Amino acid sequence: MIRIALTKGRIEKKAIELLTEAGYDCSELEDKGRKLVFKLKNADIEVVLAKAADVITYIEHGVCDAGIVGEDTIMEHGKWFHEILDLGFGKCKFALAGIKGMNFYEGYSHKVIASKYPKVTKNFFNQKGIDVEIVKIEGSVELAPILNLADAIVDIVETGSTLRENGLEVYEDVAYISTRLIVNTASIKLKKAEIDDLVKRLSAVISKDENDA
Ligand code: PRP
Repeated sequence: MIRIALTKGRIEKKAIELLTEAGYDCSELEDKGRKLVFKLKNADIEVVLAKAADVITYIEHGVCDAGIVGEDTIMEHGKWFHEILDLGFGKCKFALAGIKGMNFYEGYSHKVIASKYPKVTKNFFNQKGIDVEIVKIEGSVELAPILNLADAIVDIVETGSTLRENGLEVYEDVAYISTRLIVNTASIKLKKAEIDDLVKRLSAVISKDENDA
């Protein structure tokens, strides 16, 4: 048996579509109510639904063998696992953004950056050799520059409409991200056949989708 941790929310629907296309019966997941653990009917696979950062925790602790999670969460939280596949959906980017029309890099004043992703923000500015103060915000980071708490934000931009509707704009792209399949380091060896089968099935759907596009 292998256990897959699947990120709930934004990427959940696409992940279930991908698993279904790969031949797994995910009907229970489509009508799940408040249930969190699902045994697939036609495969020796258990799927658990978890918040993105927790998917990484479960994989790193070895209680889940594989996980479906965004590159954003991997960049912020993870490292002790293998990143196996780019699943090709959930495409968006990390961007530095702020009030429209301001020149962020003008002047030498001390900058305050708000983000849900302090590690990603720190790495981005470290690479530039710029020292910034980072304020951790839990959600709707766009409020921070509007309320004058921060000079800019580092956040996820997908369609750009949250920025637009709040009078903000992208100053600079930080990194492009998408959804990934990650695997526990021990499971790669101990459950090689099951993991290989999962990877093979998912890869086949991904390359088919790429060819159709
Ligand atoms: C993310 C992100 C932006 C928004 C960007 O937030 O933090 O606020 O989506 O998407 P857009 O470019 O398509 O407008 P999310 O909806 O995940 O909620 P949160 O702010 O509560 O984390």
